Amino acid sequence: MEKIVDTHEEIESEVIQGLTSPQKYIPSKYFYDRTGSLLFQQIMGLPEYYLSRAEAEIFQNHGENLVSLFGNAFDIVELGAGDGSKTGILIEWMLKANKDFNYIPVDIANDAVDQLTSQFMEQFPGLKVDGLTGDYFKMLDKLNALGNKRKVLFFLGSNLGNFSMKNSLDFLQNINAKLVKGDLLLLGLDLKKHPDIILKAYDDREGVTKNFNLNLLDRMNREFGADFKRQYFIHYPFYNSVNGTVCSSLVSDRQQTVNFKLWGNSIHFQAWEAIHTEISQKYDKHAIQYLADKSGFRILQDFHDSNQYFVNTLWIKK
Ligand code: TRP
Repeated sequence: MEKIVDTHEEIESEVIQGLTSPQKYIPSKYFYDRTGSLLFQQIMGLPEYYLSRAEAEIFQNHGENLVSLFGNAFDIVELGAGDGSKTGILIEWMLKANKDFNYIPVDIANDAVDQLTSQFMEQFPGLKVDGLTGDYFKMLDKLNALGNKRKVLFFLGSNLGNFSMKNSLDFLQNINAKLVKGDLLLLGLDLKKHPDIILKAYDDREGVTKNFNLNLLDRMNREFGADFKRQYFIHYPFYNSVNGTVCSSLVSDRQQTVNFKLWGNSIHFQAWEAIHTEISQKYDKHAIQYLADKSGFRILQDFHDSNQYFVNTLWIKK
């Protein structure tokens, strides 16, 4: 397995830049250390977090049809593979249909890739798994080196929704530039629906999502010697039904200063100042068509769950 690790300088400048900008933020990839990855697995099992179940249902009900569109020989590259729980369903369909393919999971969380690799090799004997750890953007450059089989890129779980509309368009264009005509992209995207259902998925009763969010601060303490006090921050998600964005933040409930021992920075918070931690975009048909058009793809087919909560949309590079 290959790893591309961010340097200490990159991490320091990313984190400090975020926390000293006029609207404070922490880049969302920092969610996924070991604790964060485990908490996210717990989120996927929550009654309120419908996204993972909807996508699994699509793969169960339409997977056979979906993988038949991939052709016979290809490489699967999955960005943000996580624990691969949904991908396993498609792998089963592909093995059943005797497809000739390798599986290349990519994730920022090293543990996730290690665990997924050993789990899939055990679960699917004969499957070729070759994982990569690192930032998606750095990984894209590796795509060219993969050989000349058709590439089928997976970007599931509405991961694209964690980029702003502008950044997701840049990202899709970037991906398009690395692919050749006829390569495929399978996106999992969460759709607009009743605002209450959406908001609850990011504000569960048990408080797992709250812990997931606050783990960002614990991680800053553990790894960079910061002294965040989690009890002085409030987990505050909200859904903007006008632009379809869930915005998660941690709000400082008082004036306070946080010190980063490792780097010697002091970060000052005014009372009620927020740290923006993540957006989760919800889409509709028009937005999806727009993204495909603007990034050089054609939509081959859409697959929905029975509630129409979620879509897996298969795109081909023009
Ligand atoms: N990709 C997930 C999503 O947008 C990540 C996520 C789930 C998340 N719950 C969260 C991010 C709460 C921040 C806060 O659905």
